[in-house]
Amino acid sequence: MYPLSRNLRSSARLSLQHLFWNLRLGFLLHPAIPLGSSPVLCIADIGTGTAIWPLELSQHVSPKSKVIGYDISSSQFPAKEQLPSNVQLEILNVMGGFLPRSAVSAFDIVHVRALVLAVKRGDLDLLISRLGMMLKPGGYLQWDEVDLEAYRARSSIPTVSKTASEQFVQYFLEYMRSLNLSLDWVSQLPDHLARHGFELVDGARLHEADAVTCKLETDDHLMVLEDQLPDIATFMASEQGRASADVKQELERLFRNVVRETERGVSLHMDWYCHVARKL
Ligand SMILES: C[S@@+](CC[C@H](N)C(=O)[O-])C[C@H]1O[C@@H](n2cnc3c(N)ncnc32)[C@H](O)[C@@H]1O
Repeated sequence: MYPLSRNLRSSARLSLQHLFWNLRLGFLLHPAIPLGSSPVLCIADIGTGTAIWPLELSQHVSPKSKVIGYDISSSQFPAKEQLPSNVQLEILNVMGGFLPRSAVSAFDIVHVRALVLAVKRGDLDLLISRLGMMLKPGGYLQWDEVDLEAYRARSSIPTVSKTASEQFVQYFLEYMRSLNLSLDWVSQLPDHLARHGFELVDGARLHEADAVTCKLETDDHLMVLEDQLPDIATFMASEQGRASADVKQELERLFRNVVRETERGVSLHMDWYCHVARKL
């Protein structure tokens, strides 16, 4: 079960997110991934969402290369007719019963981005082993991820309160944990990859948001919090034995205060990582 919506706003939000991943990283494919002398590559993007990453990457690789975006749902895919000839989109639950034969040992590069809210407790090993199965021997995995355990509100002005923002972030995290999602692995991802026999090539926690990305990222996080508000209210109401409508009203009031705080200089942050590993 994936908690975020897949509506028009969610798709626009993923485009915003793509913009600040690009601003933060300065690349789509990590420079440590050698593109080799053969310009024809098979590249997979797992949990592709709106396919914005494959679409942009397709302009930087040979038209003969193949960039395949996989997602458990096609509801955010662009129309087939709009895809460049070297992009293909497929429905796939990467943690489902099996991988199609066409996806096994098929890829020179596998890319994953922002999949943390799709990983249930106990499923990380399955996910990593599936990513490994998709790669050809010697192939590269690039994993761009956010660490929700490090989700925090920060006030740049001492007189501006961040109380509402901190409170809402806590409610959001409690709700996500109640869904049996595993949030605590992102900062240790290199160890998990090494455990699965990957050779670590490069990886880092990205630098803190600057003036450009800080506002973009805060707006993005606000949109996720707003999207989740009704579900958080239902969860809290059942925990507290209260009427859902009352809790929802309280949360809506709290959310308006969060927005007000961010207008006065509070920002919302997570830790961002980009790791590259090679399948031996
Ligand atoms: C936060 S979005 C990220 C989309 C894209 N990677 C990006 O960065 O723009 C997470 C995506 O993972 C997909 N997803 C969730 N569970 C999945 C699974 N088991 N297999 C494949 N995709 C999955 C969701 O449908 C959603 O599109």
